[in-house]
Amino acid sequence: MRIGKPKDVAASPLRDWIDTAAVRTKPSLTDFKLSGNADEIRNVRWFARGTADELLSHPLLGRLTIAERNGLYAARLLHFLDDMVLTEHRIVNVAAQVIAENRLRAFLPEQWAIDALKLYTDEGYHAYFTAQASRSIRDVFSLETHDGPNVKIAALEALVAEVPPQQRDMAWFMVGFVGETMITKAIVDAMRGNAHSAIDALLLAHLEDEWVHAKYFSQLFTRVWPQLPSADKAFFGRLLPRIMLAFHTWDVGFYRHLLGQVGLQASECEQVLSKVVSGSSQIGRTRQMCANTLQVLARCEVFKDAHVRTGFMTAGLLDLDQAHRLAL
Ligand SMILES: [Fe+2]
Ligand SMILES: [Fe+2]
Repeated sequence: MRIGKPKDVAASPLRDWIDTAAVRTKPSLTDFKLSGNADEIRNVRWFARGTADELLSHPLLGRLTIAERNGLYAARLLHFLDDMVLTEHRIVNVAAQVIAENRLRAFLPEQWAIDALKLYTDEGYHAYFTAQASRSIRDVFSLETHDGPNVKIAALEALVAEVPPQQRDMAWFMVGFVGETMITKAIVDAMRGNAHSAIDALLLAHLEDEWVHAKYFSQLFTRVWPQLPSADKAFFGRLLPRIMLAFHTWDVGFYRHLLGQVGLQASECEQVLSKVVSGSSQIGRTRQMCANTLQVLARCEVFKDAHVRTGFMTAGLLDLDQAHRLAL
């Protein structure tokens, strides 16, 4: 059993957590409320996105009124926030528990394991204030609650369940690593489409914590990967692209329901969905959102292994040029 000696341990990105974490410094986020009266919010364009928004810039949605368009934006934001709440405690905090309980003690110093409890606390707080915001948006727009299973969470849990029990802790670590090096881009993307100051403030507070979490998980991955035996490198090298794609599983049922609600005929719904929810769009989005994750993998020379490289290429997450460069 290898345990890093204190003198070997680099400073953790979470070292200033007491003075900087949102849970310590921004208690007001728990009082989130949407300002303005319900009619104003419904009828003023307060979500701003241009043609970069494939779904909402689709010609078949051009006939919608501002109120209908705002309702669509709001339902999608609500879906994003609800998904975030679940991801925090059902996915990220499972990975944080694995680290905090020192179950990866063969690879990681104990101080970094203790720091996982700070991350765990952050995610609980993010889940809480995000759930508050979600409820507020749902009330203003009179939106339905979606109680159905979350397809992304189900895909990730199914993936880990396939892993042999002795490798499951490491699989959760890999899931945490992908999720936490990717989420900053997802939050920035959500902020880009939003023009409401209270929601922006909340997303920014979350983003500031997530920059630290991304650094923390990158640091851990950089320590773990070189220590893995080659058979494990091959195994997790094959699992990583599947984790990345699972994180971007489209909830087709949700979008179909949403488009039906604003009056699109079944054939029109399928036309819109075939453009924005196709396999290539899932791969494109995964590549875009996982750019930081892919950079960390390249830095750690994960792609030097030809089988791993091929696995990423087959999944569509690396193109031929990149693969050639990374092989050198
Ligand atoms: Fe978070
Ligand atoms: Fe996080």
